[in-house]
Amino acid sequence: MTIPTFMSVLFFKRFLQRPFQVASIIPSSKALVGRVASKMDFSQPRVIAEYGPGEGVHSREIARRMPAGSQLLLFELDPDFSRDLERQFANDPRVHVINGDAAQLPQELQRRGIPFCDYIVSGIPFSILDPAKKRALLLKTHEAIAPGGSFIIYQVTNELRQHATHFDRADSEYFLQNIPPMFITVFHKANTRNGHSHPAVQPARVPVGQTA
Ligand SMILES: C[S@@+](CC[C@H](N)C(=O)[O-])C[C@H]1O[C@@H](n2cnc3c(N)ncnc32)[C@H](O)[C@@H]1O
Repeated sequence: MTIPTFMSVLFFKRFLQRPFQVASIIPSSKALVGRVASKMDFSQPRVIAEYGPGEGVHSREIARRMPAGSQLLLFELDPDFSRDLERQFANDPRVHVINGDAAQLPQELQRRGIPFCDYIVSGIPFSILDPAKKRALLLKTHEAIAPGGSFIIYQVTNELRQHATHFDRADSEYFLQNIPPMFITVFHKANTRNGHSHPAVQPARVPVGQTA
């Protein structure tokens, strides 16, 4: 497994300072990043939010794959990681770095006039969130995803499955090519309309937090 030295040093330093928030001593492997990205359809412009990008290993791959007209919102609590993400994506206007809690997602979408996300990808340590915070974040996540979209998580345990009851279906796999191995779970939100396109980038929808 190859990891850029600067990235792994920054990651390890942030882990030492905030072990429970960062929850891992090295970034996701290239194989895990590819596998998570393969769960998304990039054949058309997408709105994607990422919770806990860390040093940006998944963000770079998502940005590389997503077509023009897409938007990627990165929610990272750690100020050092956020500063570094700002630097990495300074020349990519599709990518927005929010140095804050993932729970700010509805306000950030509303502020930008974005109705829904097609995909939300999460690397935050959900298993150690307190139950009330976990429930609230799951509910906000479900509400922010467009019909036909999905919430994709990679976690050491698969305990979130029992909490994410708002979603219509969940598919999990145990992925060994990472240290440590991870469960990748895709929570699907049913598409109530005909067809399979996600409406997130279409402008005529009601923004999250507003009523029609
Ligand atoms: C296990 S690391 C994952 C980093 C990266 N996604 C990867 O796969 O290598 C978890 C990251 O989530 C961030 N984080 C934890 N709780 C968060 C929250 N509530 N909102 C936003 N970021 C959070 C941490 O600061 C850390 O960067």
